[in-house]
Amino acid sequence: MTRFASTIQFLRSSEIRDLMSLATAPGIISFAGGMPGNDLFPLNEVDEIYNSLSVKEKQVAMQYGPTNGLPNLLESLNEYLKAKGLPVESNRIMITTGSLQAINILAKAFVDPGDYIMVENPSFIGALSAFRSYQANLITVPMNADGIDIPQLKEKIASAPQKPKFFYYSPHFHNPAGIIYSQEIKEQLIEVLKGQDIPLLEDDVYSDLYFYEEDKDKLKLIKAMNPDGIDVCYTGSFSKILGPGLRLGWMLVPEHIYQKCELIKQSIDACSPSFSQVIADKFLRSGFIEKYVGEVRLEYKKRALAMFDCLEKNLPSYVKWNKPRGGFYIWLQLPQGTDSTEILKKAIEKGTVFVTGKTFDPDGKRNDCMRISYCNTDVEAINKGIPIIAQAIKEVCG
Ligand SMILES: Cc1ncc(COP(=O)(O)O)c(C=O)c1O
Repeated sequence: MTRFASTIQFLRSSEIRDLMSLATAPGIISFAGGMPGNDLFPLNEVDEIYNSLSVKEKQVAMQYGPTNGLPNLLESLNEYLKAKGLPVESNRIMITTGSLQAINILAKAFVDPGDYIMVENPSFIGALSAFRSYQANLITVPMNADGIDIPQLKEKIASAPQKPKFFYYSPHFHNPAGIIYSQEIKEQLIEVLKGQDIPLLEDDVYSDLYFYEEDKDKLKLIKAMNPDGIDVCYTGSFSKILGPGLRLGWMLVPEHIYQKCELIKQSIDACSPSFSQVIADKFLRSGFIEKYVGEVRLEYKKRALAMFDCLEKNLPSYVKWNKPRGGFYIWLQLPQGTDSTEILKKAIEKGTVFVTGKTFDPDGKRNDCMRISYCNTDVEAINKGIPIIAQAIKEVCG
């Protein structure tokens, strides 16, 4: 028998993955993915950038680079993050292979098998898998419309069998809950964690994709507030604002944490793709990224509003959902006890797919909710697919 490592058992596949394999049939309308629209990638600009590179730059692109990132990209990203008010002077940036790698490295830096960490419920499945792979015990804290439930957070920290190693959260246009943390909850979160020796992992991949200018004030990161008495480890990514195929993300963390993370990254992949780093640097340096993000924001807003309208027209009143103000997702709350996997089966039969609630539940239980995303479907597909989902919901819930 093949003698795999015992940690492998902590990596769970799910019935959802099996269902999803049915969902790749041609013609299926997918509200499942959290990926940018294929039709929105800046392909011409990538061509132009590549063609304008000097031979020396192309050689750099094909070569290994420093573990923490190519100096040019570190410089341009430094400026980009500084403009967002992030404390780049007092922290270190490391370029990573997607922000999922940043999260994974941070988990490796903090978690011994059996350690406790705190996560939101619901939470980003990729991070949960990373935490499980290091055999972390997940303490889950429920979320409300404004962010984490602070009294429960306090209670769970106090009653944890061991002091949690960190708290992982995602402040803006949450995946999957779609919400923005209020300033009040962020401040309360700071108060709870201050002086506790519980670092905060702040995972921020959607903030740039806001739909309403007036929300910009609400998108202040805790990292940018730079609170005393908490190690805030901020992670971000080019995936949602340029293309996940670049596999480029970053972390901005205090120096002492950076030192450990750099050692960990060296042993994982030595460096992130130089090719992508050269391209991403040019996008930042030319200022094209702001223009491009401005354009895709409008398109995502159009799709989000189309989906919202369609939900209003088609869904029974017992289903509740958030009005999207940015990002990629709408989170549907079904009547208590509903099994959204049953809805998914019916939706797939009729040619539409989404992600069930329990996929995002760290305890793998709550399934009376579901995530639909509007990022990779045009308005026509939304208008065709949502009535199918509405029908499937009615068939299951009555
Ligand atoms: C909340 C959140 N964090 C992190 C990621 C990881 O993104 P990447 O590794 O592509 O940067 C995702 C991707 O879906 C996400 O939704």
